[in-house]
Amino acid sequence: MDAKVTLENMYGGRTLVFGHRGASAYAPMNTIPAFELARQQGADGIELDVHRTKDEHVVVLHDFSVDATTNGTGDISHMTLSQLKSLDAGSWFDASFANTPIPTLEEVFLAVGRSLFINIEIKSRTIESDGLEAMVANLIQKYGMQDRVIVSSFNPYAIMRFRGIIANVPIAFLTAPDFHIPPPDGLVYEASHPYEGSLNETTISEYRAVAPIINTWTVNDADRAVELAKMGVNGIITDNPSAILQALGR
Ligand code: G3P
Ligand code: CA
Repeated sequence: MDAKVTLENMYGGRTLVFGHRGASAYAPMNTIPAFELARQQGADGIELDVHRTKDEHVVVLHDFSVDATTNGTGDISHMTLSQLKSLDAGSWFDASFANTPIPTLEEVFLAVGRSLFINIEIKSRTIESDGLEAMVANLIQKYGMQDRVIVSSFNPYAIMRFRGIIANVPIAFLTAPDFHIPPPDGLVYEASHPYEGSLNETTISEYRAVAPIINTWTVNDADRAVELAKMGVNGIITDNPSAILQALGR
């Protein structure tokens, strides 16, 4: 199916709520407990961040290094899956989450892939590929997730590479106020993922002129979520899905 049609079907005219790194206000970000909790709270989807390990696995973690959210140190790209799996990615958040492991993307698909949409953010700093886009594409195909994911990146070359591998999966161009690499000429993307503070009636129209869907991050204020939904934003990415769902009357 065409990526634009896939995305329109996913939304069906609704405002979708995505748990940012899961329900990360309540559980350690980018872990299975955070994703399961987003589902229990009634979120439509989750957002997560992916990296490539030294031995070619796709793991879910925000930073390029493990230092901030595990009991280990080092860059993910220099570590094997087995080294990463030995780390505790939960205790930094709360002792009750001790020994929560870093998940693979495959494990997330198996845990919540049939019940939640998944915004996969490719963390990439280079114009040249490290192979991550092809690995993500393979997993999406293996688990039949083509109509349940949106692939985004701050690096437009990453989403362009992904589009070149698998054309029918929606891609999103991600921007921040202090980080905006212009998309390469001719790149067509179905969604824009701007920082919520940059949105008003004018900028929403500008984003809409380029891509039909606008998902914004990170909205934790209930009133702001309602305002953005009224302005026509299609998706709210939040650390606190339960609060935002309630504010939207769901
Ligand atoms: O994808 C939206 C948002 O997650 C981008 O920023 O730093 O939270 O990955 P960051
Ligand atoms: Ca992210």
